[in-house]
Amino acid sequence: MDKSVGRKSTELFLRANKVLPGGVSRNTLLRGIQPLYVDHGEGCRVIDVDGFERIDFANNMASLIHGHAHPKITEAVSTQLRRGTAFTMATEAEVLFAEHLCGRAPGFDKVRFVNSGTEAVMAGLKAARAYTDRPKIAKVEGSYHGAYDFAEVSQAANPENWGQGNRPNSTPLAQGTPQGVLDDVIIIPFNDPETALAILARHKSDIACVLIDPIPHRIGMIPADPEFVRQIHTWTRDNGALLMFDEVITFRTETGGMQARFNVTPDLTSLGKMIGGGFPVGALAGRNDVMDVFVKGEKGLRLPHSGTFSANPVTMTAGRVAMELFDDEAVARLNDLGDRAREGIAQAINIAGAPACVTGTGSLFRIHMKPNPPANYRETYPDASEQKALSALVDALYDAGIMPIHTGSGALSTAMGNSEIDRLAEAVLTAFRTINTKLQKDI
Ligand SMILES: Cc1ncc(COP(=O)(O)O)c(C=O)c1O
Repeated sequence: MDKSVGRKSTELFLRANKVLPGGVSRNTLLRGIQPLYVDHGEGCRVIDVDGFERIDFANNMASLIHGHAHPKITEAVSTQLRRGTAFTMATEAEVLFAEHLCGRAPGFDKVRFVNSGTEAVMAGLKAARAYTDRPKIAKVEGSYHGAYDFAEVSQAANPENWGQGNRPNSTPLAQGTPQGVLDDVIIIPFNDPETALAILARHKSDIACVLIDPIPHRIGMIPADPEFVRQIHTWTRDNGALLMFDEVITFRTETGGMQARFNVTPDLTSLGKMIGGGFPVGALAGRNDVMDVFVKGEKGLRLPHSGTFSANPVTMTAGRVAMELFDDEAVARLNDLGDRAREGIAQAINIAGAPACVTGTGSLFRIHMKPNPPANYRETYPDASEQKALSALVDALYDAGIMPIHTGSGALSTAMGNSEIDRLAEAVLTAFRTINTKLQKDI
């Protein structure tokens, strides 16, 4: 743990441990043995309870696109708060937000709101099953899609259990995952269309949908190859299955999400994180006839679906304002900052002579303690010495007033400018210099 963990954070964690399992409500907050406790955030900066200020490159796991407490979002939400926060009635706020989102991508005929990315993926997988009347889903090895049992399969496969590359095993994440779940999830390798199609062919009449994250952060944060996406899309078309994109993170990459960069329109798309404007959110968007599974029709109600807080007007208001602010110009500016960040980090790695590299696209980056960018999940998987070196790097960045995601990744916000990006590059250089001797020894 970095030396800047203060006394107040430590005291809070001692209290938390008595009432929260592991002292937290999200395991991802644990770095080393404890989380830091925040006091407040302003724009792209967060100030912890001990008064340390850091530039926020984590942005609540890539969910804040405008940083903290953006005045326009705060004002709109405050107005809504005074009018009530949750009703057993529909609201104009959800209609306005749905109209906005449906205008952003050609494949978004309709949208259904939920409360998290996990729920959005779950709704999408269930919608695909209901639409096709088939039981299985296919997903990419190592890809993270939240906590639905089926979406979790092979999320954390490791060399002991992942099996042969051309026939990856379906591995459980949680102990006690039913065998039936594993049997109904088919695992394909990333960006290897030939192997993927051979695997899919073996289950072709059972597959409801193929789920793809176009920049899977646990798979090196490397974009999907357009040819991989094209071939999977064609396969789904030819075999009566659906293509679902998980754009919970990647929607920030283009005005219409990463799908705008491919010449394909997925049948379904899960959204979340930044579309909530800082509030809990998820959404499933898709083609009219597929989204009709949520509506009572000739075939009855194929997918009954509800959620007490789904489309609550606070989230809907914050999300709409945030997304309206994230227009073409804002997306382009943020992606330029992303290029500057990746270039700055690459230069720092070069100057320091560190055996590391940087990947990512748009407003996302990830530092790997490997000399060359990985091509798939198995290549991304860090060995023990790489993991140790990465933790040392993240600690050093925290000490330097930079807060990345604990995996060495970062997601930018529109609250940043060139000076914050340059501070990041400088901090990476200093951090590599500090830990370089150790790296040379370990890797
Ligand atoms: C690609 C992707 N899908 C789904 C999820 C789950 O979203 P949530 O944490 O809101 O449930 C995440 C969360 O990190 C994600 O990165």
